[in-house]
Amino acid sequence: MSKILYISSEAFPLIKTGGLADVAGSLPPALLKKQQDVRLFIPAYRGVLENIKSHKLVASTRYYNLPVSIIETRLPGTMLPVWLLHCPALFDRPGGPYSDEHGNAWHDNALRFSVFCHAAVDLALDALGLDWQAELVHCNDWQSGLVPALLSLQAEPPKTVFTIHNLAYQGIFSHQTFVDLHLPNQLWHIDGVEFYGQFSFIKGGLAYADKITTVSPSYASEICTDEHGYGLQGLLTHRSDDLSGILNGIDDKYWNPGTDNHIYHKYNRRSLEKKSLNKISLQKQYKLEVDENVALIGMVSRLVEQKGLEIILQSIPQLMELPVQIFILGTGDTHYEIQLAEWAEKFPGRINVAIGYNEQLAHRIEAASDIYMMPSRFEPCGLNQLYSLRYATLPVVTPVGGLADSISDSDDITATADELKLLQTNGFVLKEHTAEELVSSIERALVFFKAKDKWRQLQINAMSCDHSWQVSADHYLKLYKDLLE
Ligand code: ADP
Ligand code: GLC
Repeated sequence: MSKILYISSEAFPLIKTGGLADVAGSLPPALLKKQQDVRLFIPAYRGVLENIKSHKLVASTRYYNLPVSIIETRLPGTMLPVWLLHCPALFDRPGGPYSDEHGNAWHDNALRFSVFCHAAVDLALDALGLDWQAELVHCNDWQSGLVPALLSLQAEPPKTVFTIHNLAYQGIFSHQTFVDLHLPNQLWHIDGVEFYGQFSFIKGGLAYADKITTVSPSYASEICTDEHGYGLQGLLTHRSDDLSGILNGIDDKYWNPGTDNHIYHKYNRRSLEKKSLNKISLQKQYKLEVDENVALIGMVSRLVEQKGLEIILQSIPQLMELPVQIFILGTGDTHYEIQLAEWAEKFPGRINVAIGYNEQLAHRIEAASDIYMMPSRFEPCGLNQLYSLRYATLPVVTPVGGLADSISDSDDITATADELKLLQTNGFVLKEHTAEELVSSIERALVFFKAKDKWRQLQINAMSCDHSWQVSADHYLKLYKDLLE
């Protein structure tokens, strides 16, 4: 049993903006089930404070002269102990974890997450009197990047792992911010947190953590290239002996069409015919033409360039010539929200765009859709393709990152159902990231969709993939064990 402090800036169901929350809300409980002494540490945003039932104050201190306390609670639905960083001046405010209601990054993000990192370090070292000292600290994304850097200055630091969920977000601030935050000068150099004259939170993790992981093996290689390295490819290549990829798992209890209370009609592998009842219910509720035989293409996503919005928007006119409907749920860049809404207006009854964050609708779309569209430009792991597999919704994806590591292309349209069973393909893969490829991959999917026995076999192939945390959590345990020995 090892003492592991797991640090994340979001965790489902307490607070979520994307896949990091899903991982932080399901990997630590999976590690707990494997007899590890895990504690999760996240900021007490207003939304978190509203979501917790019982809690107790376990420590108080100050950083930058701001009063800070540590609240202890449990992750809802689990036995996992959670420590919350309660600093009302920085976290108890309306808006999101990283930005305000208008989508502008909080002006004091560097201060907010510097306080978070300092508190994490003190928790790890048992400097706040909680009688628990971490043997290993697992950090995630830039918001916890300073933790490995600060710990490296200790005489006997715990081991550190830094997981990159998305290298596109690095937490870059000015040198003056570094000075204003009174961070130790020893960290300011090219092999430290300095990045082309600026102050980089993520470099604190990449330069100082004992091990670096990404959330898929393919992404670990991709970020060592000029195309996906964002200027950090040199450092990452230099650290390649300590860099590896572990594909994310999913919470297979919460994302289970057989027990999912969010969806209209539950179904499993043996009652797959009930899946289309979900489509009919969704069509009725959202005023799409009710038609069991039309292929419904679903998508639940942050609406940002990463997710392939450019090629999706370009391909809509051609897609509308096919027997398909499109249902997109998401929030993100305003110009994408507007353009998508315009297409929905042009094709009432065939395209529905729901702007906003909606947990229940996300599950309903997964259950109701035939095809899940995820043509990301890059995708560190991606969870929706994994949820889609479980809901027998066949993913159409680009061959990048975790999409490449989890989806295999059904490229032979002449294959029989029996052959598809042998091949075990589970989706459709674009050859390149273009609108033409997106359209032709969906056309290919439709060929299978029309041949009911083949489609059924692909659905069974998809549902047979096991992406529960069982396997992935063991990979993390192995990594921890290697470090601690
Ligand atoms: P990323 O973390 O890059 O956004 P992932 O595929 O890893 O992408 O995870 C996204 C998670 O966020 C999934 O659980 C997805 O269902 C959820 N999600 C994204 N947008 C929405 C939304 N508008 N409403 C509900 N859930 C959403
Ligand atoms: C990031 C990535 C996504 C990944 C998620 C969880 O948000 O964009 O691909 O699935 O983190 O690791």
